[in-house]
Amino acid sequence: MCTRDPASNQLIDYKTNDAEVQKECTASTGVPVGVKDAIQTVGPRGPALLQDFIFLDEMAHFDSERIPERVAYAKGAGAFGYFECTHDITKFCAATLFDRIRKRTAVAMRFSVACGENGSADTVREQRGFAVKFYTEDGIWDIVGANMPVSYVRDPSLFPSLVHAQKRNPQTHLRDADMFWDFMTLRPETLHALLMYFSDRGTPDGYRHMHGYGAHTYRMVNATGEAFYVKFHFKTDQGIKNLDTRRCDELVAHDPDYAIRDLYNAIKKGNYPSWSMYIQVMLGEEAKKCRFNPFDVTKVWPQKDYPLLPVGKLVLDRNPTNYFTEVEQLAFSPAHMIPGIEASPDKMLQGRLFAYGDAQRYRLGTNYMQIPVNCPYRVHVKNFQRDGHMTVNDNQNGAPNYWPNSFCGPKESSRALALQTCCPITGDVYRYGSGDTEDNFSQVTDFWTYTLDNCGRKRLIRNMSEHLCEASQFLQERAVKLFTMVHADFGRLMTEALNTARISKF
Ligand code: HEM
Repeated sequence: MCTRDPASNQLIDYKTNDAEVQKECTASTGVPVGVKDAIQTVGPRGPALLQDFIFLDEMAHFDSERIPERVAYAKGAGAFGYFECTHDITKFCAATLFDRIRKRTAVAMRFSVACGENGSADTVREQRGFAVKFYTEDGIWDIVGANMPVSYVRDPSLFPSLVHAQKRNPQTHLRDADMFWDFMTLRPETLHALLMYFSDRGTPDGYRHMHGYGAHTYRMVNATGEAFYVKFHFKTDQGIKNLDTRRCDELVAHDPDYAIRDLYNAIKKGNYPSWSMYIQVMLGEEAKKCRFNPFDVTKVWPQKDYPLLPVGKLVLDRNPTNYFTEVEQLAFSPAHMIPGIEASPDKMLQGRLFAYGDAQRYRLGTNYMQIPVNCPYRVHVKNFQRDGHMTVNDNQNGAPNYWPNSFCGPKESSRALALQTCCPITGDVYRYGSGDTEDNFSQVTDFWTYTLDNCGRKRLIRNMSEHLCEASQFLQERAVKLFTMVHADFGRLMTEALNTARISKF
């Protein structure tokens, strides 16, 4: 028997609960439409007339209703809720959302699939995006993270190639195992993320059963101006659940939107998903002496050295009222920070600070911050920016549009000034390659040896060999060489698995 879930009943719910008394249909100008199913023609068989505004208005809008999808993390699901501060971290951070226990701050969240297009399936092996927008009284703060604590590369110049290598081949328009394994094996810093990708956490059971990580190192500043390096963690309160690869394949065929449906249904049923937020803290002095580069996003900070400190809870209790308006138009950026939170020297983070706003100006337009879901609604934005396509607010009326001025234009914030840190930086300007100047292996060996258990290692070998055996022989050999450098068993087991895969292919 076919069962209908809350997502399937959306239109019935709308008719029962949300629809007003049925109103007359209009054109975009508000003019009432008398006939909705016939264009104006000369005689019953046509031709059509250019004067038919009702038809042209409808068709012209339809022709331009698609906007570019996100260049990465295009397929996703979003929801709304709040962050509640549960622990006092004011000794580390003066950001207003942490200034008292039980304080609530509204949030928007978007979960996503890293490299598939907007129409791709939710249950394929991929990194998942985990993005949080905090609507604070000091403006917008975004954490644009993932379900993995590390990234593949540590220099932002490689990010476009990292994404290209995982997306479609420029000629065949197919996903291409040679592109994937060529890039990954030429850059051994990808190994840490690769092992996570092919482990169980590469196929989470929807978006509710996975952790989220800010991944990068950030800086927190307290009210006296002291700075601390931090990493952000969000632990799922639903418990970790991953999908077996066979189940993933079934869902690709039967319910490719499995993760979107799961999130929507859970919230609709009042089963609100939540995540507990933690930070890891490193002092400036510790960062100088740290045995690894704490600003290298391919590394984790071991929790035995930098324990997780509880901060608060994220709860999602509202589904979007309209997907395009409230989710497709969401614009997250690591550059959206508030007083008390700053960037660290992490090179990838520095690269990201530019990329997101740039992408969103292209994807959504110059005034993307005026779109209600992006707008810092708890603050009255006052500045000297004006005009541009789709200015849809009051454009700051008659206030002076230049600085400085003598006519009561907005003044500088003493609070932001007090929290601005002054940090000395010196060094020689150069393009410092980091492919093999950093340790690419120790933490990967730890992941293989201590994080995975025997069954986890077996599943990783199976998942990875099924993908690697699609690549050319020389790439398989290059990969095995690297895996052997991680751990002799890893190299040996992968060789055996590849041999078996080759035999079963013929
Ligand atoms: C230099 C490195 C990176 C660059 C240049 C970059 C660039 C981008 C761009 C241009 C977008 C589309 C933004 C939009 O149109 O709204 C995007 C989306 C996204 N990126 Fe990155 N990215 C980088 C690294 C990362 C890393 C390391 C993570 C995870 C830790 C990450 C997580 C995400 C997520 C989750 C989204 C989707 C946000 C949403 O839900 O709207 N990115 N990235």
